Amino acid sequence: MSGKTQRISKLLVHLGYVETRREAEYFLEDHRVEIDGNPVTRGEVKAIPSQVTIDGEPMDSDRLLILLNKPAGYVCSHEDPGLRVYDLLPERYRARNPKVITVGRLDKDTTGLLLLTDDGALCHKLTHPKYHVPKVYEAVVDSPLTGKEKELFASGKLMLESETTPLLPAEYEATGERSARLTLNEGRYHQVKRMFAAAGNRVTALHRAQQGRLTLGDLPEGKWRLLDAEEEALLFPEV
Ligand code: URA
Repeated sequence: MSGKTQRISKLLVHLGYVETRREAEYFLEDHRVEIDGNPVTRGEVKAIPSQVTIDGEPMDSDRLLILLNKPAGYVCSHEDPGLRVYDLLPERYRARNPKVITVGRLDKDTTGLLLLTDDGALCHKLTHPKYHVPKVYEAVVDSPLTGKEKELFASGKLMLESETTPLLPAEYEATGERSARLTLNEGRYHQVKRMFAAAGNRVTALHRAQQGRLTLGDLPEGKWRLLDAEEEALLFPEV
């Protein structure tokens, strides 16, 4: 949260409650907004979101960090056609400015832990190699595992097709004849699928189970929830 006061009409637009300042004026005239318990009808009054209630409910924060359990069939891009992960969020989250974006991407057919935020600096920090946020994936593959994957993935020498630097060592554990758990310390394009392709196999299902020390817990597929500061800290190494 920025802690900086803003005109209430501007907040209503930026946090996606209304589309235009004009609409904000109507919204205020309808007596739907209170600041510190006092009704407000003038758009120029300044506040921070934690002071504001809308129809008796606390106003959304001006900084969101969302945990989504992504189902298969949804894309992470704002531009691609078809079902988007953003369609799983409330309409007003989708109308916010700055926009809510995904922290990195999961493929359309990948399920599991996906973070979304409107905080550009946080997004940068969570995706930057310097901050090193490990991610845990559970993969199901087409052919039985050979037993050679662990060494290959841990080698620090595996060069994926059309790349110029080898992959960082990844942790690997077979969890079944055709299933494995991988911990990656970087995020290259289609990385898990390309790693198994390099091992002569094919991923048929992929699920992200963990990012940093954060897991999905009991969040059902297709559902989202906001993360608090304590949970946000789980995304970074313990200090
Ligand atoms: N690796 C992949 O191949 N796909 C994903 O969605 C994530 C990691």
